[in-house]
Amino acid sequence: MSTNDNTEPEFSEDSMFDAPHVVEIQKLWTVFKTAASEATVHRDLDLVIDRGEVVSLVGGSGTGKTVLLRQILGLETPARGTINVLGNPVAQLGAKGAASRVGMLFQHGALFSAFNVLENIAFPLRELRSLPPQLIRDAALVKLQMVGLGAEHAHKMPSDLSGGMVKRVALARALIMDPPLLLLDEPTAGLDPESSDGFCILLRSLHRELGLTVVMVTHDLDTLFELSTRVAVLADQKVIVSGPPKDVIAYPHPFIHDFFLGERGQRAMELLREYPFAV
Ligand SMILES: Nc1ncnc2c1ncn2[C@@H]1O[C@H](COP(=O)(O)OP(=O)(O)OP(=O)(O)O)[C@@H](O)[C@H]1O
Ligand SMILES: [Mg+2]
Repeated sequence: MSTNDNTEPEFSEDSMFDAPHVVEIQKLWTVFKTAASEATVHRDLDLVIDRGEVVSLVGGSGTGKTVLLRQILGLETPARGTINVLGNPVAQLGAKGAASRVGMLFQHGALFSAFNVLENIAFPLRELRSLPPQLIRDAALVKLQMVGLGAEHAHKMPSDLSGGMVKRVALARALIMDPPLLLLDEPTAGLDPESSDGFCILLRSLHRELGLTVVMVTHDLDTLFELSTRVAVLADQKVIVSGPPKDVIAYPHPFIHDFFLGERGQRAMELLREYPFAV
């Protein structure tokens, strides 16, 4: 449980397994100040995510979706409010603690261009400086296979990979420490329809097999309907509504109308029929 007074809960390894929520965000404020101005990106934002959910976070460009993922990962600190991940305030986890709990697939893949595939996947484990190289290598090879790529790709450089393969390698790196929570920032953006479908199928099977909780930012309605158990809409600096896709679509708000029912409305309705869980 999070508290609103000054007595922060103790950091606890055990709480990770019996935490009431995987992510609990309360009264979050994000403010970016420059010399000339001050921009409030999130204002009193609340969001709770439970074990096993696949929550799609949607919102207009610049509404603070990526910033929110970075805050859940502990890379950025909000101006105010609390973020608990698996029962611990994210600020107390530290970089290594966060890496074992939260994996993130960044918006643009973000592989290290000077490292080959295996070195990219192994990077977070190597950073721990406590494991023998052979073990790290074997763990990275297992993850390479887990994302559907053969060992023949292990020594390729990122510049020699297709867009879909870059995403898969980045996903393998995000999963190297077996985190229970996976954050995905536009996982299928820039992929052709076939690669996008393949990546969705991979994500769905990993979600099922690894028992992951997933928070995903996406503009892609196919990906959203294919994977989400819940949709959360970021607008007006907060999460204005969250729920099953059919409930969210019915919520009266200009962004929701444009996103789901504008030009793409027909397609959205077809998708609702296609994916029974969304209805
Ligand atoms: N480090 C920073 N300093 C100042 N402003 C920032 C910083 N990071 C993000 N912002 C601003 O915060 C807002 C939200 O950014 P963010 O990247 O989270 O948007 P987004 O919802 O992910 O958009 P998109 O859909 O285009 O990826 C933007 O206006 C951005 O310019
Ligand atoms: Mg973004």
